[in-house]
Amino acid sequence: MLFSSHGLLACSLTTFVFSGATVADDARSRAQDALNTLQGWYNNGTGLWDTCGWWNGANAMTAIADLALVDPSVMDTATYVFNNTLIKAPAQNPHPGPEIKSKSARDLNMRVNSAVNASEWVDSAYDDDAWWALAWIAAYDVTEDNQYLQLAEGIFDDLTKAWGTRCSGGGIPWNPSNTYVNAITNELFLSTAAHLANRVYSRKQYYVDWAQKEWNWFVAQGFIGANNTINDGLLQNCQNNGATVWSYNQGVVLGGLVELNKAAPNDTYLEFANKIAKAAIETLTDSNKVLHDWCEPNNCEPDATQFKGIFMRNLQMLQRVSPHDIYKEVIISSANSIWANDRNAKGQLGVDWSGAPSDPTNASTQSSALDALVAAISV
Ligand SMILES: *[C@@H]1O[C@H](CO)[C@@H](O)[C@H](O)[C@H]1NC(C)=O
Ligand SMILES: *[C@@H]1O[C@H](CO)[C@@H](O)[C@H](O)[C@H]1NC(C)=O
Ligand SMILES: *[C@@H]1O[C@H](CO)[C@@H](O)[C@H](O)[C@H]1NC(C)=O
Ligand SMILES: *[C@@H]1O[C@H](CO)[C@@H](O)[C@H](O)[C@H]1NC(C)=O
Ligand SMILES: *[C@@H]1O[C@H](CO)[C@@H](O)[C@H](O)[C@H]1NC(C)=O
Ligand SMILES: *[C@@H]1O[C@H](CO)[C@@H](O)[C@H](O)[C@H]1NC(C)=O
Repeated sequence: MLFSSHGLLACSLTTFVFSGATVADDARSRAQDALNTLQGWYNNGTGLWDTCGWWNGANAMTAIADLALVDPSVMDTATYVFNNTLIKAPAQNPHPGPEIKSKSARDLNMRVNSAVNASEWVDSAYDDDAWWALAWIAAYDVTEDNQYLQLAEGIFDDLTKAWGTRCSGGGIPWNPSNTYVNAITNELFLSTAAHLANRVYSRKQYYVDWAQKEWNWFVAQGFIGANNTINDGLLQNCQNNGATVWSYNQGVVLGGLVELNKAAPNDTYLEFANKIAKAAIETLTDSNKVLHDWCEPNNCEPDATQFKGIFMRNLQMLQRVSPHDIYKEVIISSANSIWANDRNAKGQLGVDWSGAPSDPTNASTQSSALDALVAAISV
């Protein structure tokens, strides 16, 4: 086991031996507190969170949407963020496409109440695009506002144009100018297609077909290693590169398979998801069942500060349809440890969920920890 255990957890666990109602109330108030702290970084002028980047913003928004789904008391905050981010954030797109570049940020900011336009949301990284597609689907789930769903569909349609340029004529590369084919971009493509299949009834089969095509290719291409963990990506010769087993790569696929199984049931989907989830837990949790990434605490910048929350969000999706005690334990232990060991005097949550509270914090570490606190509400 790579990770050492840290103290205090045993104490915090006692909080959770009370009734189910106490557990849920406690978990909810922690998540509300973490949301308030996160919103201290929300910049209503940019529609994003200061101290973290573009793709992190999609994940912060998703965490807020997921909380609003289980805790209506944060609905006003959530709908304010969706409304404001929809209008303001496109001007912050770090690498907008050619037609957007010519427009000034001011023009984009003026686009209040006009139709949503997916081209404002795509940048030069296909994974970023899909994070936003999933974020808008999460906003749709909370509000049932169709413009959010249309935006996700538009982003997905754009991604399909990148399909199949390398590796057995399949898959999506990381970005248009780079030949690296990585797991995350393809897991996100799977998950976005599968989510849309369950929400856009008029095009259900179209999205099921894409999700199945991606999944079959993903399995055949060997992203999944011998011990059922998923490595970062493929070599130039299209074989598994054996690179770092990041938590988010074990996570996004779980939500993708849960949604695909709902849209087009096949026992193999949840079998795969359970194998991957168990292997991830064996590889990435410490002796207290708290989740970690290999980079902690000092080498996670700039992206890996976000990863663990993504795993938790997706593990919770799997737990909902295929419950296992070990999933519940990992979610509760991680949430408890964040609260007991990784929260500073300002209520900010850091990257190492076992502590110390002196961990550097920002909207990325905060929103990632929020995902774990949200997951703990419903287990
Ligand atoms: C947006 O930010 C400005 C400047 O910080 C502030 O004055 C205003 O109240 C904020 N608006 C909302 C709706 O939060
Ligand atoms: C968000 O916009 C919708 C219209 O799209 C409006 O009905 C709703 O009141 C707005 N919510 C907030 C919190 O601004
Ligand atoms: C989307 O926005 C771009 C840039 O503003 C514009 O060129 C394009 O025509 C828009 N597409 C639609 C469908 O409105
Ligand atoms: C389920 O998926 C497996 C693996 O892709 C496939 O071989 C099988 O034909 C599928 N079963 C059905 C009923 O579609
Ligand atoms: C599974 O394999 C990966 C390498 O691909 C390794 O990093 C990880 O430690 C292995 N997990 C276990 C539980 O041995
Ligand atoms: C957030 O803070 C962590 C910890 O200081 C840092 O590693 C990371 O780069 C920051 N993330 C972003 C997106 O700035």
